Amino acid sequence: MTSSHTFEPILRRIAAEIESMAERGRPADYIPALAVYDPRRFGMAVAELDGTVYGVGDWREPFSTQSISKVFTLALDLAREGDTLWKHVSREPSGNPFNSLVQLEYENGIPRNPFINAGALVVTDRLHTLTGYAAGTLLEFLRAESGNAALAINDGVAASESAHGDRNAALGHFMASYGNIENPVAVLLDQYFRQCSIEASCADLALATGFLARHGIRADGTRLLTQSQAKQVNAIMLTCGTYDAAGDFAYRVGLPGKSGVGGGIIAVVPGCCTLCVWGPGLDERGNSVVGVAALDRFTTLTGLSVF
Ligand code: DON
Repeated sequence: MTSSHTFEPILRRIAAEIESMAERGRPADYIPALAVYDPRRFGMAVAELDGTVYGVGDWREPFSTQSISKVFTLALDLAREGDTLWKHVSREPSGNPFNSLVQLEYENGIPRNPFINAGALVVTDRLHTLTGYAAGTLLEFLRAESGNAALAINDGVAASESAHGDRNAALGHFMASYGNIENPVAVLLDQYFRQCSIEASCADLALATGFLARHGIRADGTRLLTQSQAKQVNAIMLTCGTYDAAGDFAYRVGLPGKSGVGGGIIAVVPGCCTLCVWGPGLDERGNSVVGVAALDRFTTLTGLSVF
C-alpha cells in the first residue's frame, strides 16, 4: 500500500471535483493577515511512510498552521513528561467551540482536551517549562520532520494574534487562578501565538505528521512516542480534532484529523500515510469547507479509514 505515488490519480480526481464546488466558506477574519486568502485556493498532499510526498493544486504553498500546531506540541510534551500531563488536561470531546470558556469553571480549571484553546495553552505552558522555548522546540521539530529548514514563524501574524488575544488571555488567567498554568500568562500567550503563526505547506505538514502513521517513529527512524502514545494522540485527534464538528468529521472522513483556522487540516491513516489539505474558506465551526470535502472524498474513493 505504500509504493510511491500510490494515490496520485485519486488526488487529481479530487482536485477536479473540488474545482467545481461553489460553496467554499469564508476565510478567518479575526485578524487581517488571515482574511486575505482567496477561498478558491486548494492544495492536498499525501506523505507515505517512507517520506515520499506528492500532491495537487497549492500543495507547496505555505499557510498559517494555527491549531494544527496543537497536535505537535501535544506529542512533544507527551514525549517528555508522559502521563503526568493528564493531571492538567482531560481527554474528552468538549462539544463546544475551540475558544469556549464555559466548561472551565465547572471543571475547576482543567480543560476538556488538549485541542480546545484552553487545553492547548496548558500543553504549551508545560512544554515551555520543560524546554525553555515551546515555539522554538515546535519549529525545530517541524523543520526536521518536513526536511524544510526554511519553515518560520510569521511575526506579523503572531503580533496580530496578540493584539486580538483577549479571549485566550482570559483562558490563560482563569486557569492560572486554579494553579494550572506554570509560566507568567504573558509569556505563555507569546509562545502560543508564535506556535500558531508558524507557516508551512501541505507537503511540509503531511511529512511532519508522519510519526503518527508510523506509530511514533520520526522521519530519521528514532522514536518520539511509544506505540500507545501515538495511538492516544490519534484517538484524541479523532474525538476532539475538529471541536464541535468532531462527530461529523468522523462520520464523513473516518480518520484522526486536526484543523486550523488558517484553512489546513491534517489527517492520519495509521500504518499507511498522512494527508494535509488546505482551503482557506471555513465553515461556521472553523473547519475548511473544501478540506473536509476533499478528505471525505479521499476515504470514500480509497476505502481507507480507521473503521
Ligand atoms: O487561538 C486562536 O484563536 C488561534 N490562534 C488558533 C485557532 C484555531 O486555529 C482553531 N482551530 N480551528
